Amino acid sequence: MSAPTTARGILSPDRTEQREEIIRMLTKAYWMEIETVMSYVANSINPDGVRAQEIIESLHEDVDEELGHARQFGERIKELYGVVPGSMDFQAEQSYLQPPEHQTDMVHVIKGVIEAETGAIDHYNAIIEATDGVDPVTNDMVIEILHDEEQHRRLFEGYLREYQAEGAI
Ligand SMILES: [Fe+2]
Ligand SMILES: [Fe+2]
Repeated sequence: MSAPTTARGILSPDRTEQREEIIRMLTKAYWMEIETVMSYVANSINPDGVRAQEIIESLHEDVDEELGHARQFGERIKELYGVVPGSMDFQAEQSYLQPPEHQTDMVHVIKGVIEAETGAIDHYNAIIEATDGVDPVTNDMVIEILHDEEQHRRLFEGYLREYQAEGAI
């Protein structure tokens, strides 16, 4: 669909190139969220043991939040005249969030979550930089999502500290 000729800002026809670059970045963000949903679903089910319960609950809640992020990225892609991709375009990248050898290995899961959140934080900072003064709506939306990811990472850093303090790793 082509942009209406009267639109100002990022929707204006002479901003097509910038818009396409933002759509490309939002699509990557969309896939990151979808993969995180898959990884967090698995890692909120697999772990065994008393100590795993806190992590299980935390990841269970995060699944809904990350799915919400995926939806927000998808909606914004559409608003910018892009198309949300189909599943055949999906390429997995989270090698670090595969199930551990032993399902009581919570350190593996915690470190994997921290790595996923760090990747999201890096990419969302890049989107915020790219949209600053260019696309204030995407900029605003991604700042809010970035806040969620920073909270997630901080929470799991706390879990890791606890394990480290107890000499479990
Ligand atoms: Fe997210
Ligand atoms: Fe997150």
